[in-house]
Formats: sequence, structure tokens, C-alpha cells
Amino acid sequence: MAAVLAPAVDFVPMRSGDIDAVLAAEQRIYDFPWTRGNFTDSLAVGYSAWLLREDGRMAGYAVMMLAVDEAHLLNLSILPEAQRRGLGRLLLHHLFVVARGKRATRMLLEVRPSNASGLGLYRQFGFLTIGERRGYYQSHHGRESALVMALDL
Ligand SMILES: CC(C)(COP(=O)(O)OP(=O)(O)OC[C@H]1O[C@@H](n2cnc3c(N)ncnc32)[C@H](O)[C@@H]1OP(=O)(O)O)[C@@H](O)C(=O)NCCC(=O)NCCS
Repeated sequence: MAAVLAPAVDFVPMRSGDIDAVLAAEQRIYDFPWTRGNFTDSLAVGYSAWLLREDGRMAGYAVMMLAVDEAHLLNLSILPEAQRRGLGRLLLHHLFVVARGKRATRMLLEVRPSNASGLGLYRQFGFLTIGERRGYYQSHHGRESALVMALDL
């Protein structure tokens, strides 16, 4: 019988030495990517920042701010060639575990109403839309609002 090897996924804290690779990925994933400063500042202030690795190679990353009992998801990204294989779900679940471990009871995030993959993922986990921030994002047609979503952890 042929053995089927599952790809090994693990999570490691993002370090400053990872930022070049993360930034290169960010620029491939988003039309309006985070800057190097966004990532260096996030690490400097101690945000919870993670790499998802598949067979030892980065396939995604995430940044989350933990404040008292609330977790604020700031960035959740899977490399284009690794998308739609369940990795976004695994990375978000990892953040839930981390946030609960730090006694967070709620997770908040902003998402573009035009972001079908993000919205699909968050709705699948039960996030509910609790508000809108007008003109929150840059877009190719002026500013775009953000939906604010929340989930009780
Ligand atoms: C959003 C993102 C993190 C999802 O990660 P992923 O690994 O591609 O998603 P998964 O394979 O884990 O899919 C989980 C669920 O997300 C939703 N989803 C993912 N891609 C989708 C798409 N292209 N269209 C609609 N729904 C999608 C589905 O509900 C999916 O569940 P299903 O496969 O049972 O239908 C990833 O697509 C990504 O990095 N996108 C670009 C960056 C981004 O928009 N990040 C979120 C910013 S708020």
C-alpha cells in the first residue's frame, strides 16, 4: 500500500529576520500592502505575529493585537499559491488558541466588503458584522469602507 504523506504544518513566531520574506509575500498578495514599517512596528510593540509553515516553508502569516480581553486581528494572509487548501482556516484557528490562552474573550477584525475570500472564511467561523468604518481602506476607486466583524471566543 502506498503511503500518503500529509504536508506538515506548523506555526512559529514571526521574527525580524522574517520581515523581508513576509514583505515580499505581502506585496504579491495585496494591491495595498502593509509597509515594512507596519511589520517592524508590530514586532517592536509585541503584537502576536506568526508564520504558518508548510514543510518548513512559509505559506502564510498573521498579526494580532491582544489588549486586555480583546484580540484584534490585523493581518491574516496565505500565499497565493497556497490558498484554498484549508491553510487560512488553520491559521485563524491557531490565533483563536493563542488569544484564548491570553484570556481574550472576543476577536475583532476589519475586512473589505469586496473581499469574498476573507468574508467567506470569517463567516464560516461565525464572525458577525457589528459595524462599518467608512472610508477605512484605500482602493482603486477612492476610499472603501471596512466591515467590522466580531466573534465571541
Ligand atoms: C482569506 C484567506 C486568508 C483565506 O485563506 P485560504 O487558505 O485561501 O482559505 P481556506 O482554504 O482555509 O478556506 C476557508 C474558507 O474561506 C472561504 N474562502 C476561501 N477562499 C475563498 C474564495 N476565493 N472565495 C470565497 N470564499 C473563500 C471559504 O468559506 C472557505 O471554506 P470552504 O473551502 O469550505 O468553502 C486567503 O484567501 C488570503 O490570504 N487572501 C488574501 C489576503 C486576505 O484577503 N486576507 C484577509 C484580509 S481581512
